[in-house]
Amino acid sequence: MKTLIAYFSHIGENLQDNEVVELTKGNTEVVAEKIAELTGGDLYKIEEDDPYPLKYTDCVNRAKKEDEFNVHPDLKPGMKLNMDEYDTVYIGFPIWYRAYPRIVATFLDTYDFSGKRIKPFCTNDEGTFGIALLEMQGVLKGAEICDGLAIRGVDVYDAEERIRGFVD
Ligand SMILES: Cc1cc2nc3c(=O)[nH]c(=O)nc-3n(C[C@H](O)[C@H](O)[C@H](O)COP(=O)(O)O)c2cc1C
Repeated sequence: MKTLIAYFSHIGENLQDNEVVELTKGNTEVVAEKIAELTGGDLYKIEEDDPYPLKYTDCVNRAKKEDEFNVHPDLKPGMKLNMDEYDTVYIGFPIWYRAYPRIVATFLDTYDFSGKRIKPFCTNDEGTFGIALLEMQGVLKGAEICDGLAIRGVDVYDAEERIRGFVD
């Protein structure tokens, strides 16, 4: 059986150290790639059909609406995963409004994760999962959800040791 690293990550303007900065590579993507390198697992980018805006305030507005109404936006049509191939699935995301972005909620709805070992990781500005792990536990009832790894966006390029301690 194989390992999958599925992640969502947003480029463009983002919140870092409480300031809006421009990212050409997403923070979560940096961590996901390092996990893939260390585990040899397959890397899969969760992509939305209608892209989130690059401008921070526009992205916040959309994310806020999706959060408020629990909208599950469509995934970009394309490569469908064969989830049966995997027994361990790393799932990574930025924290938006103390939760995972709603496109990740769509991803979790799309596949059957029962019987799998889930290794959640996130990046954010504050260093915690917020309510994301609690929500994930409610949604992925048949899966084994392991301890997660939360990394601040400003620290992703200096986090190799923590990432090594997280992977198995
Ligand atoms: C719409 C939006 C909402 C955010 N909400 C939070 C939040 O509630 N708490 C937090 O710590 N960081 C928040 N952030 C900051 C991101 O979680 C952080 O910059 C993260 O590292 C971005 O990862 P990415 O580059 O992979 O998308 C938010 C960023 C955006 C764009």
